Amino acid sequence: MLGWDSEMNSIDTTKPLVELRDIRKAFGGVQAVDGVSVNLYPGEVVALLGHNGAGKSTLMKMLAGAYAIDSGETLIAGEKVQIRTPSEAQAQGIETIYQTLALADNLDSVSNLFLGREKLTRWNTLDDHFMEGQARKVFQRLNKNFTNIRVPVRRLSGGQRQVVAISRALYFNARILIMDEPCAALGPEETAMVGGLVKQLKADGVGIFLITHDMPDVFALSDRLAVMKNGKLVGTYRTTDVTEDEVLGMIIAGKRPAGKAQAEHP
Ligand SMILES: Nc1ncnc2c1ncn2[C@@H]1O[C@H](COP(=O)(O)OP(=O)(O)O)[C@@H](O)[C@H]1O
Ligand SMILES: [Mg+2]
Repeated sequence: MLGWDSEMNSIDTTKPLVELRDIRKAFGGVQAVDGVSVNLYPGEVVALLGHNGAGKSTLMKMLAGAYAIDSGETLIAGEKVQIRTPSEAQAQGIETIYQTLALADNLDSVSNLFLGREKLTRWNTLDDHFMEGQARKVFQRLNKNFTNIRVPVRRLSGGQRQVVAISRALYFNARILIMDEPCAALGPEETAMVGGLVKQLKADGVGIFLITHDMPDVFALSDRLAVMKNGKLVGTYRTTDVTEDEVLGMIIAGKRPAGKAQAEHP
């Protein structure tokens, strides 16, 4: 079933999709994530901001099952869960798009779309015909000019690789999407495409954590923003409640804007 065909009407947008509570993670002596709590609602984009080393990726990798948490709680749609592996995260509808566009370079786009989740025929062979047909539909939906889907992805442009990465999230019905600097490797046109896609996914009820350093993207795409510094959460605000200077003050100095209320929900 394709992501954009799925039924989103039944989603209760008043309850958090994700609740991270007092999450901690240390690497040796480095407290990478130090007691962070943040929520994400259906159809909401929460921008996760902070300098390099602030702990953003580590926090998201725990949600994605790439790292184990040291302590804290994760709730998905109100249920306490333990996400120990990437496949456990995927089973919860959590998909990740990394800045490095992590793809298997020697495989083609179809194989990358289905990597680890291949469709088999009833004789237990790879159902290439099915996978290619499905892949073509998803890719074309994102980029009409993307037809060379059978060449190794190392030969593709940044934008085409991003289409493959995002297609994995779409096709497997992500309800929670983590985008870790999704535009870092892209040109302006491709960046605009990712922005359009974020809006489309939002309308479908997908909740998105967006890690980015790009202030225009933050203000164009996010409903709330959460700033981290040295592993700690500085604060969480509605994007429309704060100015760019106030956001930069949080990122650089860890200083909360005076007289502005934090927001636990959109
Ligand atoms: N796998 C790892 N092993 C050791 N230290 C790590 C690892 N991943 C991240 N760190 C450290 O944790 C801190 C937070 O890093 P990270 O989550 O990547 O920050 P951000 O994504 O905000 O740039 C940094 O000090 C970083 O060096
Ligand atoms: Mg990072």
